Amino acid sequence: MADLSINFAGIEAPNPFWLASAPPTNTGAQIMRAYDHGWGGAVWKTLGTPIRNVTARFAANDYGGQRMMGLNNIELITDRPLDVNYEEIREVTRKYPDRATVISLMFETEDEWKENIERSIENGAKGLELNFGCPHGMCERGMGSAVGQEPLVLERITTWVMRYATVPVIVKLTPNITDIVQPGLAAQRGGADAVSLINTIKSLMAVDLDTMIPVPNVGGASTNGGYCGPAVKPIALNMVGQLARHREFDLPISGIGGISTWKDAAEFIALGATSVQVCTAVMHHGYRIVEDMIDGLSRWMDSKGYRSLADFSGLASQRLRNWEDLDMNFKVVAAIDPATCIGCQLCYIACKDGSHHCIYLPGDGSGKAPDTGFDRVPFVAHDECTGCNLCSLVCPVPNCISMVEVDRGLAPVSWRQFQSGEAKLPAYTYKH
Ligand SMILES: Cc1cc2nc3c(=O)[nH]c(=O)nc-3n(C[C@H](O)[C@H](O)[C@H](O)COP(=O)(O)O)c2cc1C
Ligand code: SF4
Ligand code: SF4
Repeated sequence: MADLSINFAGIEAPNPFWLASAPPTNTGAQIMRAYDHGWGGAVWKTLGTPIRNVTARFAANDYGGQRMMGLNNIELITDRPLDVNYEEIREVTRKYPDRATVISLMFETEDEWKENIERSIENGAKGLELNFGCPHGMCERGMGSAVGQEPLVLERITTWVMRYATVPVIVKLTPNITDIVQPGLAAQRGGADAVSLINTIKSLMAVDLDTMIPVPNVGGASTNGGYCGPAVKPIALNMVGQLARHREFDLPISGIGGISTWKDAAEFIALGATSVQVCTAVMHHGYRIVEDMIDGLSRWMDSKGYRSLADFSGLASQRLRNWEDLDMNFKVVAAIDPATCIGCQLCYIACKDGSHHCIYLPGDGSGKAPDTGFDRVPFVAHDECTGCNLCSLVCPVPNCISMVEVDRGLAPVSWRQFQSGEAKLPAYTYKH
């Protein structure tokens, strides 16, 4: 059976599944229940000078019948006294010495950082996570994403922390920035042991059109919040991949953002993450989801012959390129399987109105679709198909439209090679 244990920048855990700093890690009692379900680690709800929260705090968008496809929150950091938090941290780290109990911190002055780093470590923290990501409330006070968006400030505060920390330090990055590599490299220059990403994305969820008040409604007004949940996974994956493949970046990564299943987690690991963190999926379905995550990941690894996570970590990041380095001679076309096609013709409409009009219908007057006897099955003109994928994405029948590679007998040529004159491309053909 596959070994799921990890050593993340010196922090050991029985598996890569950690709870992200958020409501599921608010108290010691919650974290201990989570550990009993199997979570390998937990990042404590961010400690800082205790704050007051508002109500309501959350809003969500549902899509295609799925509740909470995206979650928006305007919650701040812990609203419980620091003494209470530290007492509970002590209990958790004593009772669960094999789990990665990481303490998330967000303070203003170097003295406050020093005091709370020392208290976290005295009480058994296995690591520290610096919250430079909160995109609401705390940034207005000069913390959270206000730090994460300024690489020089991020580097400076990381340097302060590294003076006092005797356990591994993870810098948690904000996605509310143009180029994630810049804060990633700043964390590395500041001496951090690792990074985690992403924190939430600045967002405004919706407007109630009866009251004209955006949501969540806080006494007749609202404010921007932080977006997370399944909807943000592609953004998080891209940022993890960008960092993992950057030649100057060399720190372990904890991947966060929209992870709900073992497959989501495996994708982050394939792109270079060592551990993953989960928030929204646990807020939605509870701690027990980790049981399926552990089971699914280890079965999949067994089926692929991966004995440890290191066997596939980063394999997909090696396949990430700049657009200009992709092979322009690679060609696929759509192929419809008439045996499974239900004749809905969604592909025909999508290609006609939303792509390049390369799909035809029997009897449509174009004379392109042969009379096959399947009179509702569309026909793809392969010599016109641009290989865009759209029809296969809209087709409601799994695997009914496949994208088939066409061997044109041409060697790979990238845009960069073409531009530099290193290689030629065949003449471009397009549809009039
Ligand atoms: C209600 C709520 C509160 C959160 N509080 C914190 C926090 O205190 N500190 C922190 O670093 N991240 C906080 N986060 C962000 C999460 O840790 C995580 O980065 C984000 O939700 C993306 O993961 P997900 O898509 O699995 O939810 C919070 C998220 C939510 C939804
Ligand atoms: S969308 Fe799929 S099922 Fe519908 S007509 Fe096209 S190929 Fe057939
Ligand atoms: S791949 Fe694109 S261009 Fe080709 S048939 Fe499908 S939608 Fe049309």
